[in-house]
Amino acid sequence: MNIINTLLKNEDKFNHPIWLMRQAGRYLPEYREIRKSLNGFLDLCYNSDLACEVTLQPIRRFDMDAAIIFSDILVIPDSMGIEVKFVENEGPLLGCIKDEEQLKKALQNKNTNKLLPVYDAIRKTRSSLNKEKALIGFSGGVWTLAAYIVEGKISKDLNIVKSTYYNNRRFFEILVESLIENISTHLIKQIEAGADIIQIFDSWAGLLVGEDYNNLIIKPTIEIIKNVRRIYPDIPIICFPRGSAMQYEKYCAEVDCNAIGVDQYMNLNWIRKHNNGKIIQGNLDPLILLSKSTDLIKNRIDGIFEAMKGEDFIFNLGHGVVPKTPVESVDFMIKYIKGMK
Ligand code: CP3
Repeated sequence: MNIINTLLKNEDKFNHPIWLMRQAGRYLPEYREIRKSLNGFLDLCYNSDLACEVTLQPIRRFDMDAAIIFSDILVIPDSMGIEVKFVENEGPLLGCIKDEEQLKKALQNKNTNKLLPVYDAIRKTRSSLNKEKALIGFSGGVWTLAAYIVEGKISKDLNIVKSTYYNNRRFFEILVESLIENISTHLIKQIEAGADIIQIFDSWAGLLVGEDYNNLIIKPTIEIIKNVRRIYPDIPIICFPRGSAMQYEKYCAEVDCNAIGVDQYMNLNWIRKHNNGKIIQGNLDPLILLSKSTDLIKNRIDGIFEAMKGEDFIFNLGHGVVPKTPVESVDFMIKYIKGMK
């Protein structure tokens, strides 16, 4: 399956489709308006009508080539019986799970029915989205979800989850197995509901090296993709092992995905030589959009197109749109890129 064709169902278009990670969210006034009417962020994720509406907001405004379903990677731990809260201005707070006993206890409250509104939101979005636009479903990767589950919140160095992995291998293996199963099922159900593409976000991949990278990034991702492809052999898959640096080479050689998301710290000339045929997705620094100079934004976009000359690629940021991003910058960027046809 050619992922570029899935993203660009209209063959006349130039072969660099565009969408943005976190394209729906707090930088959009129409998102803030809906968000304000609800108590918690998860209430929005689990309200299929509002999640559908928020998914469509950036498409209406900017007309990107793909929509990504509005949800979060932490709905999986939430459905596994692990407490997940989003604290205003602080981010996620999870009931930290540090051993087998605590995991077993949490799993007694496992309730995957919590995820049904996500699939309903996908069905609703797919039926209202223009046929020429792709709908992207997603999940977190095993390591990134394990990091949130064990640390309980965002951490700079992931020292708690790493020491747990080094000192309590048995617990970690059980956690990894359980995550592989839950992630695979969640992705399969999103495809069943109408997602045309799936993306796996392994946001903390860059904090592992060598054997640990192999065991916690590459191997579980291979397992997940195998599970998904057993049922949907042709589904296009984008993997985003953020911050993998030179380990992208091994990742691209071993993981059977169609496209590879690269962060803004990756040199595009280097990845073009080490991508093993995967379509490259990336990688404008999201903070460039904070610039008030359209010339500067233009210049950095030109740099990406220059580096990617002669090759199909998916234009995206190197990470998500940040809340302070001016709507005008996103508008300018998309119009500028679409004008390059
Ligand atoms: O990309 C999209 O537009 C789809 C929606 C989406 C969200 N989160 C919405 C969201 C996606 C794909 C994610 C992925 C996600 N969530 C990741 C992986 C990508 C990355 O950013 O590294 C991670 C690590 C999370 C976990 C998470 N969710 C954190 C750390 C936070 C708090 C930080 C923040 O930006 O506030 C969230 C909350 C969250 N997820 C918001 C949105 C729009 C903001 C919450 C709000 O509106 O109050």
